[in-house]
Amino acid sequence: MRKLLEKIKKRRTFAIISHPDAGKTTLTEKLLLYGGAIHLAGSVKARKTTRHAVSDWMEIEKQRGISVTSSVLQFDYGGYRVNILDTPGHQDFSEDTYRTLMAADSAVMLIDAAKGIEPQTKKLFWVCHRRQLPVFTFVNKLDRYGRNPFDLMDEIEKILNIRAYPVNWPIGIDGHYKGVYNRFKNTVELFEDDTSHGAKQLKSTTGTLNDPKIREMLDEETYKNLCNDIELLDLAGDDFDMEKVRNGQLTPMFFGSAMTNFGVKSFLEKFLELSPAPQPRALQDGDVIEPDNENFSAFVFKIQANMNPAHRDRIAFMRICSGTFEKGMSVYHKQSDKIVKLTQPQQFLAQERTIVEEAYPGDIIGIFDPGIFGIGDSLSDNNLKLQFEDMPVFPPEIFARVQPKNSLKRKQFEKGIKQLSQEGAIQIFEQKGTGLESYVVGVVGVLQLEVLEYRLLNEYGAELLMNQLPFSVARWIYSGNQKAIDNIKGLDSGMLVYDKEGSPVILVNNEWSLNWLLERNPEIQFLNVPADLKKI
Ligand code: G4P
Repeated sequence: MRKLLEKIKKRRTFAIISHPDAGKTTLTEKLLLYGGAIHLAGSVKARKTTRHAVSDWMEIEKQRGISVTSSVLQFDYGGYRVNILDTPGHQDFSEDTYRTLMAADSAVMLIDAAKGIEPQTKKLFWVCHRRQLPVFTFVNKLDRYGRNPFDLMDEIEKILNIRAYPVNWPIGIDGHYKGVYNRFKNTVELFEDDTSHGAKQLKSTTGTLNDPKIREMLDEETYKNLCNDIELLDLAGDDFDMEKVRNGQLTPMFFGSAMTNFGVKSFLEKFLELSPAPQPRALQDGDVIEPDNENFSAFVFKIQANMNPAHRDRIAFMRICSGTFEKGMSVYHKQSDKIVKLTQPQQFLAQERTIVEEAYPGDIIGIFDPGIFGIGDSLSDNNLKLQFEDMPVFPPEIFARVQPKNSLKRKQFEKGIKQLSQEGAIQIFEQKGTGLESYVVGVVGVLQLEVLEYRLLNEYGAELLMNQLPFSVARWIYSGNQKAIDNIKGLDSGMLVYDKEGSPVILVNNEWSLNWLLERNPEIQFLNVPADLKKI
């Protein structure tokens, strides 16, 4: 029990959320550098380049091995065991990206200092917010021209509706930042010029504001501006409130530059101190399982199918929620109501896959899946036989009508579409009156459509006819008056479909069309995700 508690206390499992190009790969690499998991920056980056330089499908297939290993990175720092979950961006963006956040205990929101909050950051933040996940903000690229830090704070508060507490504050002016002021310790950290182009750890000098060596290093104006900024923050800013951080209402904010390593170490240390250890997990029956429960439990949040049809091997990624995982253990699998042996358990230390001997709550392991696991599945000790709450469904933004090219292959098509939907690879909708031959498929990233096409052909032998639809917004609709739904007004350019539970969903072109509907249908409630239906 004591050993388990110790292991839990020292674990931190988080995801970095950001818009492409904000510097996620660079920051991840620097965290690995400071964690001693790599010795020279550049290796993670090189991998990313290989990963994105190729886009044709056969190449993506080859790349699968790479994205498997990058699904989670683990390293040790200052007594902590750190698990960073990968949330792919760019063309790899998919529902997996959202689901990965279900396995995290906190998130680091990375923002480009010149760009502020960008669309993908907003979407990912929204998913964290719904889960009340603590979010820590790292404002990156401080080494070059960026927006005023007060403006960035303001933007976070206005756009994301969360309060911000700067833990450190940049010293200097645009593009000529010299260091950061630590508001917890009331100390100044000034960085030496980086001569290694960020390949090595950065040296710095630390002291109080009155320390003569610090005063000597700052010119009069920079010093005065810093004092004014700090005074303003102390007077007008929020107080630090750990309870609000835990509930996702206040984001501790850090400034730095991943490329030059500026502020990375102090961020990492403070983040590890403030971020939560593995948290209790909600169960289907409304109860929770505490991580220090001695009985093992885990849920599957991602399945990585190897696209090679000759192998068909799949890895199910699971997050351990309680107890201790031991290599070769057999556990109860709720969805099949069977005892299964967890074979070939793998963990991903920095860049290498290793076989896991033992793992603890907060850790992610990849298990060889003979085709029995689905996303959201629950595994637990036979004493528990528990079921975690369902994996949420996220609002799709890309839609296509799909049907089999050859009607003789309809059976295979139906089977494939349904299985892939169950697996969580796509969401399917039906339009009433069109028969069973065509479905509307909803996804959050185009990669999911490519995967659908490829897997239907290679695994089920059904070639697809796919027509992308001009919609980008889906809303689950509800009304106490069924007639209001049957006679929905103003849907001329949109579409009414039904999800696999039979709940009605409208698809429209954009937010503007949605507002048009909202105004005309006061009796109908428009909900972002199906989970909101349960709250009514
Ligand atoms: P991503 O994973 O979020 O997509 O971003 P990535 O780390 O690949 O960074 C995107 C670009 O931003 C890269 O430039 C990277 O070097 C740069 N970058 C990351 N952190 C910083 C920073 O702190 N300061 C500055 N000035 N730039 C930063 P690139 O030109 O696309 O690639 P590269 O040629 O530098 O490798």
